[in-house]
Amino acid sequence: MQRFKLKTDIIFGQNALDVLKTLSARSCVVFTDAFLTANGTADRIASLLVGCEKVSVYSEVKPDPPIELVASGMKFLLEKEADLVVALGGGSAIDAAKSTVYVARKHTGKNIRLIAIPTTSGTGSEVTQFAVISDIQAEKKIPLIDETLLPEMAILSCELTASVPPAVTADTGFDVLTHALEAYISTNSNEISDALAEKAVELFADYIVPAYKNGNDLIAREKMHTASCLAGIAFNEAGLGINHSIAHALGANFHIPHGRANAMLLPHVLRYNTELDIKFCVKNANPTADKLESLARRLGYPANSSDIGVRNMIVKIKEYQRWLNIPTTLGEAGVKKQDYLESKQHIIQSALADACTATNPRKVDAAGIAEILDKIDIFI
Ligand SMILES: NC(=O)c1ccc[n+]([C@@H]2O[C@H](COP(=O)([O-])OP(=O)(O)OC[C@H]3O[C@@H](n4cnc5c(N)ncnc54)[C@H](O)[C@@H]3O)[C@@H](O)[C@H]2O)c1
Ligand SMILES: [Fe+2]
Repeated sequence: MQRFKLKTDIIFGQNALDVLKTLSARSCVVFTDAFLTANGTADRIASLLVGCEKVSVYSEVKPDPPIELVASGMKFLLEKEADLVVALGGGSAIDAAKSTVYVARKHTGKNIRLIAIPTTSGTGSEVTQFAVISDIQAEKKIPLIDETLLPEMAILSCELTASVPPAVTADTGFDVLTHALEAYISTNSNEISDALAEKAVELFADYIVPAYKNGNDLIAREKMHTASCLAGIAFNEAGLGINHSIAHALGANFHIPHGRANAMLLPHVLRYNTELDIKFCVKNANPTADKLESLARRLGYPANSSDIGVRNMIVKIKEYQRWLNIPTTLGEAGVKKQDYLESKQHIIQSALADACTATNPRKVDAAGIAEILDKIDIFI
């Protein structure tokens, strides 16, 4: 028996933010970062919450939110006696809000409601039961997984993403692609998650470059916002794989933005998972390669065998890396060789222990993770 459940109410399209006017609460906290507070977005959201008796703004979120932020966020929620939290921002703000509300509910025994408004098109956190928090001292990212982390409502308003700078558009866009592809080949995928992942990849293929080149292209922004949400629902259902496991470890150790770490790894992980050799031959017939062949065909890439399908998918991903100016080596991503060598074993062990590894389509061990890392282990 299988089950597909979508708890989050998704509001999208023109004037989606107007739904905020229908919400009521005694004390609402807009949970966000300094940038979205300084550029007026947090105040704009607060002004739409006309049915809430009191609205306050918490603007302390930092990228890759640390555990300590959850403690400070909870103190704020308790002081304000919040019964509604509106998470506003990228994955960092939404994950920080999700974790904080989770802990505050446990502490107070009260049902604090949670709504998410993403301002990047990347993590899909507005529709997932995951929240990623960083343990700075242990150089680890900790994914919390719990159904109660799912926001009750997600509001997709693409105009909020127009101010995202090109480099962040590129990084977060590659996060979308990685979510969709890892969900698609995950051991837990099914036809519903496949349909969502396929559509997300198609939207990425057509709209990431226009969104990157012109942030004010609201059609491209809207399509990427939809792709992010679809890919989020897909991986919430199907899980991810070792691309994310290794990216979490690289992010925790070297503060490489999450999507960028995913982007650097993606061609190499696909090659590893499909057992594609140096001559672009799939060594052992495998369902992962067959699935990617059918996706390549859907995207219009030549693919009359699994070898050719996978190869063309990888070639195309490398083209997107070039178009979006993604670094392809640890050296280009600003990592120092000595730091990498000192952390390599820790990265391998963290990746193996990461929750995403369980649904990777190919069984992986330390040698497998090292084989993938070796492909980006270039310092000039
Ligand atoms: N919960 C999940 O399911 C999930 C999935 C993938 C990743 N993550 C986590 O999400 C985090 C990354 O999130 P992200 O990639 O969205 O980046 P982010 O939230 O860290 O934001 C990146 C930068 O963009 C800025 N920004 C956000 N919105 C903006 C806007 N509209 N205009 C201009 N600047 C804006 C932020 O201030 C920040 O400086 C990582 O911690 C990652 O581990 C979570
Ligand atoms: Fe991700």
